[in-house]
Parts: sequence; C-alpha cells; structure tokens
Amino acid sequence: MEETSKIDNTLYEQYGERWYTAFDDPIALLRAENKVKVPWILEYLEKHHKDSQTVLDVGCGGGFLSNDLALAGFKVTGVDLSLESLKIAEIHDRTRSVKYEQADAFHLPYPDQSFDVVTAMDFLEHVEDPARVIKEFSRVLKPGGLFFFHTFNRNFLSWLIIIKLVEWFIKNTPKNMHVIELFIKPRELRDYCREAGMEIQELTGLRPIVSSINVEMLKTGVVSPHMRFTLTKNTLLSYLGVAQKLNRPLDKEGP
Ligand SMILES: C[S@@+](CC[C@H](N)C(=O)[O-])C[C@H]1O[C@@H](n2cnc3c(N)ncnc32)[C@H](O)[C@@H]1O
Repeated sequence: MEETSKIDNTLYEQYGERWYTAFDDPIALLRAENKVKVPWILEYLEKHHKDSQTVLDVGCGGGFLSNDLALAGFKVTGVDLSLESLKIAEIHDRTRSVKYEQADAFHLPYPDQSFDVVTAMDFLEHVEDPARVIKEFSRVLKPGGLFFFHTFNRNFLSWLIIIKLVEWFIKNTPKNMHVIELFIKPRELRDYCREAGMEIQELTGLRPIVSSINVEMLKTGVVSPHMRFTLTKNTLLSYLGVAQKLNRPLDKEGP
C-alpha cells in the first residue's frame, strides 16, 4: 500500500468512442459493472421511492448510468468535468432526453433541493474531499431524496486486486487511474453521509465473478466480453449503496 501518487482525472478526456467499444482497457470493467448497478438502483427505486422522477448523475463519464436511467423513464441530468466524455455520453443517449452539462461536483450549478435522486458511480474515490462533495449532493437533493453511490473499500486486498492486478493484467491501464489513499471505508462513508444529513439505507458488496475471468484474458490483457460482476454480502473490494436525505436536520447536541 505504498501509493503516494495523485489521482489522474484528466485521462477521461482521451477515451472518446472507446468508452463504449474498448476491451483492451479497464473501461470495459466499468461497462460490466454498470450491468449490475442499473438493475439494483431501479429495483430499489421501484420498491422504496416510486415517485422519483429527476436524477442528477455526478461524474457521469461516458453516460452508462445516465443513459440507462433515461431509457427507464427518468428525467436525467448528467454532469462531468470532462467535455469529451460528455460528448460521447450524448451521442449514446438513445432517448435524446438527457441534459449533459459540464460541471464540477464541488460546485453544482443547481439550486437547493432540485433533484429526487443523485447518483455517483465510481466517482467518490476520484476526489480529494469526498465529505465536501457529499454535502453538495445533499444540498441539491430534495428532503427524503436518495443518494446512490458505488466506490472502493480501502484495505490491502482492494489495493492488490483493484489497483495492482488491474495494472498488471489489463492492457492500457493508465497510471494513477486509482490511488489507494482515496479509497473509502464504508464506515467513513456512513459518517460523511451523516455529516451531510443523510443516512445509509442499504449497502452491498460488488465483485467480479471469478469464473468469468478466463486465462486468455490474463494472457492477452484484453477483458473478455463475458466478464461479469455480481452483488455479494462482502464489501471488502467495492460496494454499492444508497443513503436517504433526512426530512429534517440531524439533532444537534445541547439544549
Ligand atoms: C471512473 S469515471 C466514472 C464514470 C461513470 N460514473 C461510470 O460509472 O461509468 C469518474 C468520472 O468522474 C469525473 N470527475 C472527476 N472529478 C470530477 C469533478 N470534480 N466533478 C465532476 N466530474 C468529475 C471524471 O471526469 C470521470 O468521468
């Protein structure tokens, strides 16, 4: 766990159409993960928050989640710092309904209480001060609104598998795509949510299905189109979850 490098968030400018087509790159893993995240989010909304209509997808990248949520009927706004990624996201929006805008997660250009749902997939581990962006997410959420997240746990195993094995075995893994210091333990995330007036409702682990990783993939560095992820109780590697903005501020101590 000796990483001391700074995260490189400029690398998302270079992907272009490769967001959707590359298998010789860890971006293929994000696409595979999205296939599990989308149904989990939709199922939760259907069960617990049927009235949700508006979604803000922060750090939307190439628009995997934004475009799928738009297809499911939500009114989606996708924001990212990377203009090149936003262009690709827009091209792949089959509904032509998603509002893609360049914005910094730390200063969202929306009034308080604008959205029913905020999503941030594979995003929190890309910023130096996740507690501060979570406060900003809470600001733009309506009371009772939901914040869905996916991020990586911080421990030796996640360092080995998510940083090192990906670097060693997957072609074109950019330097400093992830740094261990920015990975977040679930209890830290729970505290950040609480400080922002939100309470985590559900948390589940997400991991690759080992049998979907074939030898060919390890030999060639190209992710198999059959590579799959699955939900798991174990949150050691990465986790997907949802927090709810409380209807009233958390009680302060004292009289
Ligand atoms: C790993 S990608 C995740 C993309 C997408 N959420 C997904 O799951 O496919 C992280 C994204 O966060 C964006 N990003 C990093 N810092 C940001 C910031 N301060 N505000 C907005 N977007 C940011 C990057 O440009 C990149 O597109």
